[in-house]
Amino acid sequence: MNEEIKRSYQFKLVWESGSLIDALAIIHKAENTHSLTKDEIVLLLKNNESVQELFSAADRVRSQFVGDQVHLRGLIEFSNICKMNCHYCGLRKDNGNVKRYWLTPEMIIDFATKASSYGYQTVVLQSGESDIYGVEDMQYIIRNIKSLGLALTLSVGEKTRSEYLAYKEAGADRYLLRIETTDRKLYEKLHPGMSFENRIRCLTDLKELGYEIGTGCLVGLPEQTVESLADDILFFKELDADMIGLGPFIPNEDTPLAHELGGTFELSLKVMALIRLLLPDANIPATTAMETLNKEGRMIALKSGANVVMPNVTEGEYRQLYSLYPGKICINDTPAHCRGCITGKITGIGRQVSKEYGYRIKK
Ligand code: 5AD
Ligand code: SF4
Ligand code: FES
Repeated sequence: MNEEIKRSYQFKLVWESGSLIDALAIIHKAENTHSLTKDEIVLLLKNNESVQELFSAADRVRSQFVGDQVHLRGLIEFSNICKMNCHYCGLRKDNGNVKRYWLTPEMIIDFATKASSYGYQTVVLQSGESDIYGVEDMQYIIRNIKSLGLALTLSVGEKTRSEYLAYKEAGADRYLLRIETTDRKLYEKLHPGMSFENRIRCLTDLKELGYEIGTGCLVGLPEQTVESLADDILFFKELDADMIGLGPFIPNEDTPLAHELGGTFELSLKVMALIRLLLPDANIPATTAMETLNKEGRMIALKSGANVVMPNVTEGEYRQLYSLYPGKICINDTPAHCRGCITGKITGIGRQVSKEYGYRIKK
């Protein structure tokens, strides 16, 4: 080896081990203080040598703050009708290739009753954004589900403050509304007719009204940078979100982003682990989108900071029709099958299915 190559090689080793040392020091700081600067988060998102240590640190913090119990939330996808046109989503209004459905209030209550009989303590009602269910319909559904003794999470998009209040008065406990991205320009590009301000207004209203709030982001959106992902993470901390759900963006062929690259499992997992380090007592799901990209995705996520899984309890053909992105798992399975499957997987990694409601316990 000539001297020059040798020198640059040595320099490379020193440089790389230097950045590894920096990364390990930052992970140590995050594990102990639960606080990082944007630059530190960016360094960890870019560094590939320290990932195992990042995941292990997130796993330790998860164990210390929220324990080994995994909270299951039964997900009811009650309508795929949507008036919005989010560029990434298969349920967007302009997608004519989806057969649209909506379940009657009685069907929704029936699915929740079945979820309760499978041992779920929480149901999540999710749908596209639409006005087909009036406030009174929603209140009727919420009251009936609450009478089953379940915790209830809503995920039905942007509404007025008075609608959020009405749902809360009827008994809803939690609300999921992902910010999707905190890059305002990118947000408005991907969400025609929607405003970043209104998204923030919704989250603020929900919090003020006493909901546990869940938010989150997509990882790997076109034009999204690691700096912007770092902003997302800091935003969740600033908001003091109770739940943070995130997953890779998976291109859907029926959308304007059909030919984009999509996010990776690894980067999504890193973002998730960092969220656990910075919000140690939050509830963090191992998401379905993660399992779409890796067949062990949810269990890997549970071992890298997550403590929640949201199995599908929608019955029949509706699962297939709730086609946010391609390759969604469990579309041909029954609620009973998924319940058994997920319990087996969770106990298989030495964790237990919680029998509690799984509210956030602030520490
Ligand atoms: N890939 C991954 N996640 C998606 N979502 C919508 N479309 C996609 C996609 N193509 C997510 C959004 C939304 C949640 C219900 O589904 O983040 O908040
Ligand atoms: Fe509608 Fe939600 Fe899909 Fe946007 S992400 S198009 S609001 S279902
Ligand atoms: Fe649905 Fe495993 S959770 S098949």
